Amino acid sequence: MVTFSNEPFTNFALEHNRRAFMAALIEVKALWGKQYPLVINGQRMITSTMLPSVNPAQHGKMIGLAAQADSSLVEQAVESAADAYQSWKQVKPSVRAAILYKTAALMRRRKHLFSAWLVHEAGKTWQEADGETAEAIDFLNYYAGEALRLLEGRTPLVTVTGEDNQWTYLPLGVGAVISPWNFPLAIMAGMTAAAIVCGNTVVLKPASAAPVVAAIFVDLLVEAGLPDNIVQYVPGAGSAIGDLLVTHPAVRFINFTGSMEVGLQLNEKANRRSPEQRWIKRVVAELGGKDAIIVDRNTSIRDAAEAIVQSAFGYGGQKCSACSRAILHEAVYDPVVEEIVRLTRQLNLGDPELFETNIGPLIDRSAFDKTAAYVEIGQGEGELLCGGGRDRSIGYYVEPTVIAGVEGRSRIAQEEIFGPLLAVMKAVDFQHALALANDTPYGLTGAVFSEDRMNLEAARERFHVGNLYFNRKCTGALVGVHPFGGFHLSGTDSKAGGPDYLLQFLQPKVVSERL
Ligand code: SER
Repeated sequence: MVTFSNEPFTNFALEHNRRAFMAALIEVKALWGKQYPLVINGQRMITSTMLPSVNPAQHGKMIGLAAQADSSLVEQAVESAADAYQSWKQVKPSVRAAILYKTAALMRRRKHLFSAWLVHEAGKTWQEADGETAEAIDFLNYYAGEALRLLEGRTPLVTVTGEDNQWTYLPLGVGAVISPWNFPLAIMAGMTAAAIVCGNTVVLKPASAAPVVAAIFVDLLVEAGLPDNIVQYVPGAGSAIGDLLVTHPAVRFINFTGSMEVGLQLNEKANRRSPEQRWIKRVVAELGGKDAIIVDRNTSIRDAAEAIVQSAFGYGGQKCSACSRAILHEAVYDPVVEEIVRLTRQLNLGDPELFETNIGPLIDRSAFDKTAAYVEIGQGEGELLCGGGRDRSIGYYVEPTVIAGVEGRSRIAQEEIFGPLLAVMKAVDFQHALALANDTPYGLTGAVFSEDRMNLEAARERFHVGNLYFNRKCTGALVGVHPFGGFHLSGTDSKAGGPDYLLQFLQPKVVSERL
């Protein structure tokens, strides 16, 4: 078994790394505009509808064209996955794990190329793209190791005289993987890899805003030795194929990452049994967040403000883990706000192709319109301290925006925006700060800056989120280090990148033999 360690991030302070990344951006640009067919049962299919994937930083530029599945193609994809399952489930876990290790190794060799696709297709800055590719490599290596741990060897049971008892894990069957655009490589690869390494087969519906990087990943799996019928690559509009995928009687589980609204609808539909269906579907769902960073009265103002700005505006706030609420103790409210605004004003909004850019565009017109609408709403709910400007003439740009003096039940303090808008709130004491932090429908990430041990311990117990951080930012969970997932309407707390994750794609069987 290979010992897992996290893939290091690229040090862009070194010129040769910057040059290599620049070369990858140029190489990928030369590949823009290609067609990406569906892959069903190893067959590539161009369809009558081909959806353009555009560069959000320059929406006139098309990255590629993704074939779009309709319901009959989804039928075919599910049937193919069900056929392939019969042989794939019998392949030894060590062989399945070896394919993941090989995929990770190939991705590492082409690391900057994958990151370059993320810059062009998802509008990520160099650092964000590099972090995401590292995370994808981590998911592959980590789940390979987890499969070996869980599936090779014997799980000990309590012994009784005269009986032999064996516990084994079996795969579930066909899984629908519905992945998000905000981590179109790492989360998509993690969701897919976890399912297949357990012996399941997959119908992958990548995000419509970023299907190209997913197509390239599926090819990489095959290059690494995965039979080409194990993952069916089936892009398509959620409204056209989502329901069929989720309700299909041959689909055994659904692994979804996306918005709370879609996740709840999908959960409801998946729970309704169709007459031919022989199981209760499992739904693994990673949904939204309305994450808060609390700043206590006695802490480093500079560190807290820096963490807030990084967590709020990294990838333009388009992370479920993003800090969208800063809850500041009244004793430090003014200096922390001042520092947040100072640091926010230093951010470079622009095309992420440029190394100097710290904050790129929003993913598409609808994200732009939604964030713009919340900037308007927010100005009625607090004081706009910086940002608010926007421009969609070339790309979908919204300035990092700070609105202060916001009340706990305001819309911008309750609703997930998924854009660069930070609501700043005042707490009269630490208990009040915790109460404000917990008072949303979500429970994904949170952070506390404090040097008061008793307050940190109170937060450990009562700040009800799946991933709680002390004295650091609330984004950037590392695979294996910070298994990731949230409470309440943030999802099923499935803890991606954690030791329990694969169990969601397995079913244990116990065989007892009287000796
Ligand atoms: N896992 C990511 C983070 O921690 C969000 O999906 O930022």
